[in-house]
This record gives sequence, structure tokens and C-alpha cells, in this order.
Amino acid sequence: PLGELARTPPMGWNSWNRFGCDINESLIRQTADALVSSGMRDAGYTYVNIDDCWAAPERDPQTKRLLPHPERFPSGIAALADYVHAKGLKLGIYTSAGTQTCARSMPGALDHEEIDAQSFADWGVDYLKYDNCNNQGRPAVERYQAMSDALRKTGRPIVFALCEWGENKPWEGWGDQVGGHLWRTTGDISDSWSSMTGILDQQVGLVEYSHPNGWNDPDMLEVGNGGMTDTEYRAHFSLWALLNAPLLAGNDLRSMTDQTRQILLNRELIAVNQDWGGIQGYQARDDGDVEVWAKPMSDGSVAVVLFNRGTTTATVTTTTAEVGLSKRGPYRVRDLWTGQQAQSDGTLRAAVPAHGAVAYRVSVDRHGVLAPLTTLGLGLPN
Ligand code: DGJ
Repeated sequence: PLGELARTPPMGWNSWNRFGCDINESLIRQTADALVSSGMRDAGYTYVNIDDCWAAPERDPQTKRLLPHPERFPSGIAALADYVHAKGLKLGIYTSAGTQTCARSMPGALDHEEIDAQSFADWGVDYLKYDNCNNQGRPAVERYQAMSDALRKTGRPIVFALCEWGENKPWEGWGDQVGGHLWRTTGDISDSWSSMTGILDQQVGLVEYSHPNGWNDPDMLEVGNGGMTDTEYRAHFSLWALLNAPLLAGNDLRSMTDQTRQILLNRELIAVNQDWGGIQGYQARDDGDVEVWAKPMSDGSVAVVLFNRGTTTATVTTTTAEVGLSKRGPYRVRDLWTGQQAQSDGTLRAAVPAHGAVAYRVSVDRHGVLAPLTTLGLGLPN
């Protein structure tokens, strides 16, 4: 459709979760700088995505083109694209398949698809998040198809992110049909435990619909925004990695704590998310407060997240068979937060802190020299 632009889930940053409409070009430039200096770019976070509120309230009266907001983005979007490209990053932008965007801060692209897509391409934009507000009740498929056609017509490769909130189930076929590289499955995330777990609940059963260049999107990360504990953010990140979610940081990268940076830079969980096999993780067991999630990896190993929604530490137990590892053991169990390794005969177990997760990668242990799992310091570092 629009090209193989998202062979693995897109990674980067988006302005909305932390900044809403309070954005400007120096924030975007400083964020690009921080992506480089923090090591995030080199870990794969390459998209710098500007969300709602970047444009002037009215189109250019003569050309009908969108204009950058004169106070927030006085140098224009093309200059920003040049800036981020020079740093080895890519620029994302936002508009809505409606008459106005959700914040009603700027005109939407409905019936202006070609001219807006052409502006984005002319400016050097690499990613479009296409929202669903003020859509006049017109069918989603037509509205998203019109933008898809317009993007293709520009000839520029642009990732097409459908932000339709799952209302018409884009995963059931029309998301692919209109050339979406990813599609939102739910309404907006917010920076709270209840929001994050509520969105997680809505991912159950969607596994089979996700694939390279067509990812389920449970919305952007809240890691580091302050409404959850670091233990909760580690669970959020572990689960989003396992779900093959786009990993779009949503915090202020200029002032993050070491703990936040370490969560976002967990390379082993990033590797789980970016595995070339592209099979989404699924819920292997639901025991109420305790859940087991598993993702088959292309090297034959399985990534496992043991998740505890309860308010006290829980011992979570599963088996290699339950997470789909059918080969004979012994198995090697690697804790993806501590880097510790141990051997297992097939039982997987951890003491999972309240509102926390333990992430393992489990493979066949070819050498058989590891200590047994019971000796592993279970749980997360504090
Ligand atoms: C609704 C989307 O779902 C959010 O992610 C964000 O883009 C806002 N609109 C912006 O108004």
C-alpha cells in the first residue's frame, strides 16, 4: 500500500501526552537534541512527532494551505524537518480526518487531503498521525482512504498512523486496506494506573490482527510523566513492548530522571518489541490480579511478562508449555530488567511486586551450566 515503512513498530516521541497544546519549535528541537544525548536515538527512537496545535487557526486565504502557528512555529515545519533530519531523526506531524482537529486549534484535512499531504511532503515530513475528530459523521474508510491516496500521490514515503480510536475496528481489515501502518485500538491513554490497565484489557483478543506494516496501537507511552510509580511504568513498558505497540515516549525528554531513562532504554525489551518476526504478545493466562503474557520470538525463544495488578507482592507461576515453548528443556530464563539468568526445568516463577511486572526471555539452555531459577533474585530492582 504505502510502502514497507513500519516493518517493526515505530519508535520515537510524541508531544501530546506531556505537553498537549503547549508546544513550540524550540521544544521540538530540544527534544531532538535529547533523543540523541540520552542514547534513545541509537536505541531506535527515531520519530519526533508533533501532535495537535502546531498550525495556525486558519488556512492561507489564497493558497488554502495549512500554515504553521505564527508564535509557536515561526520558522516553519520545513526548517524543523531539516533540523531533525540532520540529527539522523525523522519528523512526524498530525492532523484530523475532520473539519478541525480535536483541540479545535487548527483546520483538519477533510476535503483538503491532497493539498495537506502535499504540504507535509514538501516540508519533509516522514510520519502522519491522522486523528478522527470533527468528522461530520462521514464513513471512516472513505476519509482515511482519501488521505492515503493523497499521501501516495506525493511520492514521499510517509508512515500513516490511523488515530480512529478503534471505533470501526480498523484491525479487522480496513486499516490494512487504506494503507495504515498502525491503528489505534482504544481511546486516549492518560497517566494513571487505571487508564493503562484499562487499555491493556482492550488488547486481549487482538493479537491475530497485528503484523509488520499493520500494528495494533494501544496508544503512546506515559513512562516518566509522574502519574504512576516507576514499578508501574516498568510494567507499562514491559507490556507495551510485548504487545508490539509503537514505542512513542510521551514525557519531557529534557528533564527525565535516570530511572525513566533506564526504563525507556531497556534494550532487551526494545529487542522484544522490534523482533523481526512481528508476532504480537498475547494473554496466556488471566487469574484475576495475576496475568501471564507471552510473545513468540523469531529465534524460537519466548518473551514472558508476569503481571501483578494486586496491591501486595504475588508469586506468579507458569510453565514453558503454557507460554508456548514446546521444545525440551532445560531452559534458560533471563530477567530482562536485571539481566540475571537462571536455569529452569519448565517452571517459571517470580515474586512480582504490587502493580509490577517481571519480564523474562525463555529459551532452550544448550549449555546447561546455569544455576536453577530458585536461586535467582526474583523481582525488580528498587
Ligand atoms: C485525540 C488523540 O487520540 C490523541 O492522541 C491526541 O492526538 C489528541 N486527539 C489531540 O487533540
